[in-house]
Amino acid sequence: MLTDSNYLEIWNLTKSFPTPKGPATVVKGFQLNVARGEFVSLIGHSGCGKSTVLSMIAGLSEPTSGGIILAGREIDGAGPDRGVVFQAPCLLPWMTAFDNVLLGVQQVKPDASRAEQGDIVKHYLELVGLADAIHKRPAELSGGMRQRVGIARAFALSPKMLLLDEPFGMLDALTRLELQEVLLEVWSQHQMTAVMVTHDVDEAVLLSDRVVMMTNGPEAQVGEIVKVPFARPRDRIHLMETTAYEDVRDELLSFLEERAHIKPSIPTTDEDARPAPAAGSTVSC
Ligand SMILES: Nc1ncnc2c1ncn2[C@@H]1O[C@H](COP(=O)(O)OP(=O)(O)O)[C@@H](O)[C@H]1O
Ligand SMILES: [Mg+2]
Repeated sequence: MLTDSNYLEIWNLTKSFPTPKGPATVVKGFQLNVARGEFVSLIGHSGCGKSTVLSMIAGLSEPTSGGIILAGREIDGAGPDRGVVFQAPCLLPWMTAFDNVLLGVQQVKPDASRAEQGDIVKHYLELVGLADAIHKRPAELSGGMRQRVGIARAFALSPKMLLLDEPFGMLDALTRLELQEVLLEVWSQHQMTAVMVTHDVDEAVLLSDRVVMMTNGPEAQVGEIVKVPFARPRDRIHLMETTAYEDVRDELLSFLEERAHIKPSIPTTDEDARPAPAAGSTVSC
């Protein structure tokens, strides 16, 4: 039965990929319930299977076994009821920020008038701080600004949930902090159910209600879950000065450190080794 506490229900999720040596089971028996309006982060070592889990929730990849139920319906493919934000937003280079966001809004609100659709687009672009860049094309925007468009686009869909895969992983440290604030602000206005993959412990604590730590793969699953007890709205500086913040941070770091020496026995995808797309490149996905 659907209740607010199991808005997203991930049940015994397992994913195997074929390899020349036979199937490699990356994720096995992953179980998690996410409440309606909850922000959950998924952290774990590179290659443990975080993106694999997220892409199954997005419906971009099929579980080998187990299932995912969102708002009472089993996920069986991608759809605009899930707003997805990847490391680099996939923006159409010949279209302005406005038109890129409009594309999504037209998909979910086909019967709204052009003016109504435009108002939604403007609202979200303003909310992410792009009021002055609405009519700029991706090539005229910095990486951080492009990611702001990506965030606006995801929220503008009014999806059932947000899925974010290391959304700030390609940005410089300062822009990353700025965008965390933007996400925190926009999220706090809409309280959308969210699952975010990150390997940044501070980012996870700042944004989340709970942090889910995954064990190292293969056969990765939920290791520990840490509740982030801080009231919202949250202020980074104030939060970081508290001993409670240190406690949560230490708990996460010690989980990761304990597992840092364990080498996964299947090849990993090293996110950091992937080349960043050139500024102003064509479709940046
Ligand atoms: N399409 C695929 N085919 C084969 N192996 C894959 C595929 N996608 C991911 N993997 C493997 O699954 C493991 C987990 O990958 P991933 O979910 O990207 O890790 P993370 O996001 O935690 O860094 C890695 O060992 C990776 O090589
Ligand atoms: Mg990943």
